Amino acid sequence: MLDIKNLKVNVEGKQILNGVDLQVGSGETHILMGKNGSGKSSLLNTIVKNPKYEISGGDISFLGESILQKSVSDVAKAGIFLSFQNPPSISGLSVSTLLKNSVNSIRKARGEKPLTAPEYFKLVDEYTEVLEIPKEWLKRQVNLGFSGGEKKKLSMLEMLFLKPKLALLDEPDSGVDVDAVNIIAKAIDYLKPFGVSFLIVSHYEKLISLSKPNFVHIMQDGKVVQTGDITLAQKIIKQGFGDGE
Ligand SMILES: Nc1ncnc2c1ncn2[C@@H]1O[C@H](COP(=O)(O)OP(=O)(O)OP(=O)(O)O)[C@@H](O)[C@H]1O
Ligand SMILES: [Mg+2]
Repeated sequence: MLDIKNLKVNVEGKQILNGVDLQVGSGETHILMGKNGSGKSSLLNTIVKNPKYEISGGDISFLGESILQKSVSDVAKAGIFLSFQNPPSISGLSVSTLLKNSVNSIRKARGEKPLTAPEYFKLVDEYTEVLEIPKEWLKRQVNLGFSGGEKKKLSMLEMLFLKPKLALLDEPDSGVDVDAVNIIAKAIDYLKPFGVSFLIVSHYEKLISLSKPNFVHIMQDGKVVQTGDITLAQKIIKQGFGDGE
């Protein structure tokens, strides 16, 4: 469903992705690891067409169609979701407005009617229970005053609402407590029966094993240099990246 070929990307005039090749199949879970600065976040931001990341070579296709000419909102409507490594705060926008607006714009693109109020509240009940989130969060401004771990849980709420086809999760488990890691794994598990594919940046054994990846990839210097199964992740966690060998 996601096919990345020889992808080269510049940020502010500097090449940071140097020929990434990566395929993610429908319903598969992939873990992406790599040293700080190896290009993981840049890759995910490029896939969602963040305009800061300029594609200078190669191709990204999603569901058989190149996304090179598409915008951030086109790819969101096509079903790609990114949870940020550092989720931004948006003052003046409540969580409930964000959720309703983003869900309804995706529904509109699919030719569906907006969520009715009862439908919305039913989903709120269901998802806040899965994620053990207090309902008062819905009234707060997006990420404003939320702790690091709470922001990551809020991203998971957005993910459940959007039910993407492909979820890109950038270190969803960094800075979160043990219980919250279990909840993030629960959110991933909740979506798997819908056939959602995941590409997850993580370096922690707990989420990696709970997410039951089909493949593990290692990035180094703006490229995917190694692909394996969960034993590759276990080896890296134990021994470090070394020289990438
Ligand atoms: N907006 C930007 N301006 C300048 N340099 C950037 C920008 N975004 C990324 N880079 C550079 O690109 C390289 C890759 O950064 P990226 O954030 O993708 O790494 P990462 O693998 O996600 O690292 P980490 O594990 O620390 O999150 C880094 O050297 C970074 O400084
Ligand atoms: Mg990063």
